[in-house]
Amino acid sequence: MTTTTSPSIRLTRRVSEIEISPTIAVMNRAQDLMAKGIDIVDFGPGEPDFATPAPVAEAGIRAIRDGFTKYTNALGMKTLRDGIAARYNKRYGTHVTTENVIAGTGGKQELFNLMLALVDSGDEVIIPSPYWVSFPDQVLFAGGKPVFAPADPSNRFRPTLVAIASVATERTRGVIINSPNNPTGAVIEESELAKIVEWCAARDAFLMFDETYEFFTYGDYRHASAIQWFDEYPETIAVVNSMSKTFAMTGWRLGFAVAHPEIIRAVGKIQSHSTTNPSSISQAAAVEALACDDSVVRAMHDAYTERRAWLIPAINSIDGFCCPEPDGAFYIFPDVHALFGRGGIRDSDSLTAYLLEEARVAVVPGSAFGADGYVRISYATSMERLREGLARIEDAVAKL
Ligand SMILES: Cc1ncc(COP(=O)(O)O)c(C=O)c1O
Repeated sequence: MTTTTSPSIRLTRRVSEIEISPTIAVMNRAQDLMAKGIDIVDFGPGEPDFATPAPVAEAGIRAIRDGFTKYTNALGMKTLRDGIAARYNKRYGTHVTTENVIAGTGGKQELFNLMLALVDSGDEVIIPSPYWVSFPDQVLFAGGKPVFAPADPSNRFRPTLVAIASVATERTRGVIINSPNNPTGAVIEESELAKIVEWCAARDAFLMFDETYEFFTYGDYRHASAIQWFDEYPETIAVVNSMSKTFAMTGWRLGFAVAHPEIIRAVGKIQSHSTTNPSSISQAAAVEALACDDSVVRAMHDAYTERRAWLIPAINSIDGFCCPEPDGAFYIFPDVHALFGRGGIRDSDSLTAYLLEEARVAVVPGSAFGADGYVRISYATSMERLREGLARIEDAVAKL
C-alpha cells in the first residue's frame, strides 16, 4: 500500500541557511514606498549614480548591431581576458596571462564560484568584520564556516594580520580581504597586506582579494592590490574585480577573477554549468572600458571626493552620529551607538526602520555587515539629495 502525502515545499538546508542580501532587502522596502509615490532619499544603493560612459555604452550597442549576440567561450572571450591581463601587467609589472583570467556575470558571481571551487565542507574561512554582506553567506553556501576577525574602529577598521591570526585554527582554509572595504571604506596598508599574503602562503591557505572599489580612495590613502604578489604566490592569491563600480556598469553584470590556471579552470567548469559566459554584449562594452583613458573614472572620483568632504562634517554635526573619515569606497559608516535607548531605538535595525518611516531616508543597518551600532550611508547620490537626506535625518533624530 502506498501512503499518500499532501504536496509540500521542501527547501534544502543549503538554501535555508542563507539569507536574502540585507542590502537588497532595504532597497526593496525603499522601492515599495517609492512605488507608492513617497519621496524617499535613498542612501542604500551600492552603485554609482553616474551613467555608463558613452563610448562604453556605444560599444555595447555596436555589438548588438553587429550581431555579436551569441555564446562566447564560457570563461569569457579571449580579447577581454587578454585586456584584463594586460591592464594588470601594465599597472603592476605582473605576468598575468589569459589562462589566469575568467570573466563572469559580475564580481559577485566570480566570488561565489571561487568559494564553490575552493571551500569544502567544514572548511573555515576568515573574514575581517565588518564585512560585505555576501561573503559569509557565500562561504556557508559552499559548506564552509565563516569565522570573523573583528577590525578595530580606532584603526579605521583596517584588517590586520594579528586579528586574522588570532581566530585561525587548523581548519582555516582561506582569508577574504576586501579593500577598499564595503561598508567601512577601510583600505588595507600595503605592509599589512604583504604580511597576510605571506602568512596565507605559509599555511597553504588561499587569499581571496576583492578590489571592486580599487579606484575609489581619497586623500593620502593608496590602494594596495594583492596582485602585486601574484607572480610569487599564484597558488595562494585569487583577485576579484568588477566593471560595476569603476565604470558605472552595475547593470551590465561583468566582473572577473585572476587566479592560478587550475583554479580558473575549476571556476570555469562551475560557470559552464550555470550561467555559461557573461553577456557577449557586456563583454564587448568591457573591452572598450578597459581601453578608455582614466579621465572617465577620474570624473567620478572627483565627484565622490567633493560629496565626501561635505558629508563627513555634516553627519558629525548631527547629535548621535560619530563618523571618522573613511579611506575609500563611496560609503560612510557612522557609529550610532549614542542613539540606542532614545525613543524606541534599540539597535541599527530599529534605527533604520525609524529613519525610513519618519525621515523617509533609506540607510543600511550595520547589523547587515556584522556591526550593529553603525549604519551605512552611500554617497553615490547627488549633493542635492545628500543635503536633503541629512536635513531629514537631523529633524527625525531631534524628535527622539
Ligand atoms: C565588496 C563588493 N564586492 C563585490 C561586489 C559585486 O559587484 P558586482 O557583482 O556588481 O561586480 C560588490 C557589490 O556591491 C561589493 O560591494
